[in-house]
Amino acid sequence: MILLVCGGAGFIGSNFIHYLLKKYPEYKLVNFDKLTYAGNLDNLRDIENNPNYKFVQGDITDLDKLNEVIKANKIDHVINFAAETHVDRSIHGGCKDFVLTNTLGVQMILDAVKINNLEKFVNVSTDEVYGALELAEDREFTESTPIWPNMPYAAAKAGGDLMCNAYFVTHKVPVVVTHCSNNYGPYQFPEKVIPFFVFKLMKSEKVPVYGDGLNVRDWIHVLDHAKALDLMLHVGVPGEVYNVGSDNERSNLEITKMILKVMNLGEEMIEYVTDRPGHDRRYAIDASKIKSLGWSADYSRDKFEQGLRETVEWYQNNTEWVEKLFAKKKGEMNKFQDNLERSNDIMKSAT
Ligand SMILES: NC(=O)c1ccc[n+]([C@@H]2O[C@H](COP(=O)([O-])OP(=O)(O)OC[C@H]3O[C@@H](n4cnc5c(N)ncnc54)[C@H](O)[C@@H]3O)[C@@H](O)[C@H]2O)c1
Repeated sequence: MILLVCGGAGFIGSNFIHYLLKKYPEYKLVNFDKLTYAGNLDNLRDIENNPNYKFVQGDITDLDKLNEVIKANKIDHVINFAAETHVDRSIHGGCKDFVLTNTLGVQMILDAVKINNLEKFVNVSTDEVYGALELAEDREFTESTPIWPNMPYAAAKAGGDLMCNAYFVTHKVPVVVTHCSNNYGPYQFPEKVIPFFVFKLMKSEKVPVYGDGLNVRDWIHVLDHAKALDLMLHVGVPGEVYNVGSDNERSNLEITKMILKVMNLGEEMIEYVTDRPGHDRRYAIDASKIKSLGWSADYSRDKFEQGLRETVEWYQNNTEWVEKLFAKKKGEMNKFQDNLERSNDIMKSAT
């Protein structure tokens, strides 16, 4: 396989590249990434000289560049991780870039796959496109749950997903779409909740929990997601959508308490802050379709604490990666902190 990995310098993309090169050392991978604030080539330092790996800086909204890279490297498959991914930014920082990359960018990749007659395209999407479940007894999301996103980030991702369906039906482009739940693991940009909390606690700062902390997400280890995407590249059926989740629903408060336990800290380190606008209450995934193809999570629900402990230890032990990230991305981290504080102020003045 000669695979174009769009957005491979981010959290999931870089974990996926590590996973795939280890499992299939003979595959060739071209990582095509714009290197936004979330892209970090330090995630891939250990494999940058691997002869079967190459990095090209580029934007998925640039069709000419996509075509050039596909032709020059004789690409036969594409997987897309490239996206604007931070929900708070899509709320407070404007969402034009979200629509450009998450919707238009996917359409450009679909055009490139069609023009170059490629074998398969896997578009990595999110369970957030389904909107929210309200009650504990509500049915989990299945692949036939209507797409009804509540946040700009999720709406822009849904735009990309709908384009995939339209290109499959209209042009027979061989595209598979996945809807995965919340990922955790190494190399995640520390504006996302788990590394954000770990870094705050490492500095003895309190961690902010939105609202009552009872918003529920289904958490999956990033390597289980990578394993599912490997399966999708090989046996995913074009035109189909697959949910990916590991039956591991946890409230934000539960996650926070687990992190505190793993780090030997007490609950006095929790600070409750005003809830985020449009904060979806519960996401839960029915992953029976992909399980029927032979996939299962190695970090199943009973191994979650182990996975979380390994993740916390990874951030604690990889001090060089952490320090370089903070040195390079200080401005972005401050912007994120400002957004968090602004969100709190807006909500306070509205109530
Ligand atoms: N993180 C999660 O929990 C989660 C869960 C389900 C699905 N997803 C999906 O998985 C994918 C990857 O998520 P992530 O958490 O690794 O994101 P991330 O923010 O860590 O990484 C995104 C990567 O895309 C690159 N990028 C952004 N815009 C680009 C563009 N226009 N052209 C080329 N590259 C561009 C960035 O430089 C970065 O390397 C996303 O599509 C996201 O919607 C994420």
